Amino acid sequence: MAIIKTNSPQQTAELGRRIADKLQGCEVIAFFGGLGMGKTTLTRAIAKALGSDDEVSSPTFAIVNEYKGKYNIYHFDMYRITSWDDLYSTGFFDYLDTGVLIIEWSENIENALPEGCVRINISCGNYDTERIFEIEGIEL
Ligand SMILES: Nc1ncnc2c1ncn2[C@@H]1O[C@H](COP(=O)(O)OP(=O)(O)O)[C@@H](O)[C@H]1O
Ligand SMILES: [Mg+2]
Repeated sequence: MAIIKTNSPQQTAELGRRIADKLQGCEVIAFFGGLGMGKTTLTRAIAKALGSDDEVSSPTFAIVNEYKGKYNIYHFDMYRITSWDDLYSTGFFDYLDTGVLIIEWSENIENALPEGCVRINISCGNYDTERIFEIEGIEL
């Protein structure tokens, strides 16, 4: 597992570019960590680095946003997903292997995550703008 600290949204975006560089097109990237940790900031940087000009925001109501870049990017917000039925209705299982899936609030679907997916746990550091990223499932 890699542990990376960032001190600003810009540094988090740089981490997103590093992650994007390693993607091959059908990964599942599962974010863990609460509100304001930087999940959407990281997703925005990954999408941009994959060549997408689409606007990236937390798909809280839509549940999934789709961006077009070098690969299809499916950006999920699982905040309101509390059952397997809910999860099936998002199309999550149909999207697997058709693009890069990036998932906010993976805590809510932990049992459904594929083995070997990329897991990124984000927590706060010692001050306001410090974030700690614990990354497994991908070599940076
Ligand atoms: N090191 C950092 N990395 C990412 N965001 C940071 C950092 N420091 C402060 N922030 C702020 O935290 C917020 C992160 O928001 P966002 O990416 O939407 O989080 P989430 O999707 O996890 O709720 C933004 O307001 C951003 O400016
Ligand atoms: Mg978000």
